[in-house]
Amino acid sequence: MISAVAAPLIVSQGASIPAIGLGTYGLTGESGASAIASAITAGYRHIDTAISYGNEADVGEGIRNSGIARDALFITTKIPSDELEESALLRATEGSLSRLKLDCVDLLLIHWPSRSLSAAATIRALGAAKRRGLARHIGVSNYTVRLLDEAVAASDEPIVANQCEHHPYLDQTTLRAAMARHGIAFVSYCPLGHAEALDEPLVQDIAARIGRSAAQVILRWQFQKGCVSIPKSAHPIRIRQNLDIFGFALEAGDMTALDGLGAEGRRICDPSFAPQWDR
Ligand SMILES: NC(=O)c1ccc[n+]([C@@H]2O[C@H](COP(=O)([O-])OP(=O)(O)OC[C@H]3O[C@@H](n4cnc5c(N)ncnc54)[C@H](OP(=O)(O)O)[C@@H]3O)[C@@H](O)[C@H]2O)c1
Repeated sequence: MISAVAAPLIVSQGASIPAIGLGTYGLTGESGASAIASAITAGYRHIDTAISYGNEADVGEGIRNSGIARDALFITTKIPSDELEESALLRATEGSLSRLKLDCVDLLLIHWPSRSLSAAATIRALGAAKRRGLARHIGVSNYTVRLLDEAVAASDEPIVANQCEHHPYLDQTTLRAAMARHGIAFVSYCPLGHAEALDEPLVQDIAARIGRSAAQVILRWQFQKGCVSIPKSAHPIRIRQNLDIFGFALEAGDMTALDGLGAEGRRICDPSFAPQWDR
């Protein structure tokens, strides 16, 4: 039997977040639950879902089928931007917990900033969910420097993470610097550039030279930049491979070369309701 790999923990504002989590967008139904259980068996302890993914019940089933104790896991879910008024947010979170069949999540995020309520009002509503015991920690997603500054100033509870798009084609230098200033963990979504970055010749060259896969090179680059990554895969071999990035390191020259791809500023998730992004 192949032994499970354990991801190091990134400590942020009292939360210990496993540096690799499983992204679950698109993992639904029995096959989704089975992919989630196989990830946990392989050693994943961090699972990322959202109300809008429509798979919280499947994530809950995967967790239960894994046989791993609830306390060993770090489970994140996200509240949609139109349910951020306090009573709606509390109702939405209770709905998540009932679908997941959990008493609380480890991290509750605002999925996208509200277009009608202030960052200050919505972060206070999220804090109320934490104080009710529905979440161990709170955070945000798709927040710009301006929104993050406003949320940090207004929040009654520590903000432990901002989950944002980050991959070799989108460097997020400005946002990462602001988050480091606040001591907030950067959780990279689309960490593989939604698989587009896997075919990049530079990534392929490094992978061939060091005997790793393209996905491992990119996830290691993310880790060495201090980011938590949540790659999604439906395939057990890839799921296992994406966690197995802690037994090698990229040289400084390779890190710099990969950093050089980011100037392109290519975004994958840029819906019409997105905030005015940092440049
Ligand atoms: N907060 C937000 O607004 C937000 C937005 C987008 C995403 N997210 C989160 O971030 C997670 C990840 O983002 P994502 O799924 O868009 O993109 P991603 O993780 O960058 O890439 C996923 C793609 O890469 C492929 N892949 C994964 N591992 C691979 C490997 N080792 N070798 C080859 N191909 C591999 C997957 O295919 P297979 O499945 O076929 O292996 C899939 O097509 C989501 O699932 C979700 O949890 C959050």
